[in-house]
Amino acid sequence: MSEKITFTLNGVLTTVDVEPDMMLLDVIREVLNLTGTKHGCDNSTCGTCTVVADGKAIKSCNTPVSKVAGATLFTIEGLAKGMELHPIQKALSESGAVQCGFCTPGIIMELYALLESNPNATQQELENALNKHLCRCTGYEPIRDGALMAQKLVQERNQ
Ligand code: FES
Ligand code: FES
Repeated sequence: MSEKITFTLNGVLTTVDVEPDMMLLDVIREVLNLTGTKHGCDNSTCGTCTVVADGKAIKSCNTPVSKVAGATLFTIEGLAKGMELHPIQKALSESGAVQCGFCTPGIIMELYALLESNPNATQQELENALNKHLCRCTGYEPIRDGALMAQKLVQERNQ
């Protein structure tokens, strides 16, 4: 039976009327029509479905929507301010980390959760975050470069 579930999504109080065990990824893409979050493996392996809930990166393909009732959620659509990209978006695009772009929203949200809470994350912490994501295009090096550039831009913005 469907249930009303409320959360804050990209700064907007949002209520959906869905089966509580529906996966958050499906709610985001199919009910709310926010298709920036990608549907990759569906089994918690690829990281393309990553969103941020209460400051933590989570895989929305294995998170029932009932688990985020009352949470503050961000998807990739919530990061830019108007035409102004978030520093992490800028860095990934400038480093050549975006080829087909399918993995990019998930990686950006992973880095957003890490760097907004810990702008001085160590290289190992950055690596650990990136290791949760598969990319079939780049060979990963531009993504690592992009993550380092993102950290620098976030640190500069915070000064
Ligand atoms: S679609 Fe969620 S981890 Fe791949
Ligand atoms: S840029 Fe194509 S999957 Fe990563």
